[in-house]
Amino acid sequence: MKRLKLGVLISGRGSNLQALITACAESEFPAEIVLVISNKPDAKGLEHATAAGITTEVVEHGDYADRESFDREVDARLRSASVELVCLAGFMRLLSTWFTDSWHDRVINIHPSLLPAFKGIDAHAQALAAGVRLSGCTVHIVRPEMDAGPILVQAAVPVLPGDTEDDLSARILAVEHRCYPLAVRLLAENRVRIDGDHAIVEGDTYTEGYLINPARE
Ligand code: GAR
Repeated sequence: MKRLKLGVLISGRGSNLQALITACAESEFPAEIVLVISNKPDAKGLEHATAAGITTEVVEHGDYADRESFDREVDARLRSASVELVCLAGFMRLLSTWFTDSWHDRVINIHPSLLPAFKGIDAHAQALAAGVRLSGCTVHIVRPEMDAGPILVQAAVPVLPGDTEDDLSARILAVEHRCYPLAVRLLAENRVRIDGDHAIVEGDTYTEGYLINPARE
């Protein structure tokens, strides 16, 4: 089986990276991680990659004069590792239009909200402030605009009375760890066609039903 070569970009904890590492360890999974790049030398996620025997590299954004020169260095390293799909996994830097154009339809991101709601760094706080009763996560194809692009996979979770940001973050993170490997699988199996702003998934299946919160009627 030919496996899609992934490059994963991180900035911190790396729990989504770990979810991808775990998925890729299954013999049937159609992708493999060939390189992990962090823009922060102390990112905990680097330890997950090293423990799994994956090559890691640090590209510190402070060492580069501007956004595009940093992006060009990241691009060069991804290409020299023959990366085919770039996965942003808690990578807390905006990519330049130059980068997203060079990797058109080949960069994906995970975000802890049901996009297009609550873009940006404080998605959980925004969801709590808005008083929504459902939130979730989104895996999408990256476009130059922050947290935007064709949506591949989403999952919804309830927001419960008294939730703190940590409570909501933990509930969403559990579904992030299921959604990110699923999105990679769909792309690796060539089941996604991009049509304008939409990602069409061939052979799509879904569970009929709904999530209602509060549940009592
Ligand atoms: C995740 O919750 C991810 O959705 C979020 O950062 C966290 C990284 O956690 N990403 C964004 O907010 C991007 N806008 P991790 O390092 O444990 O995967």
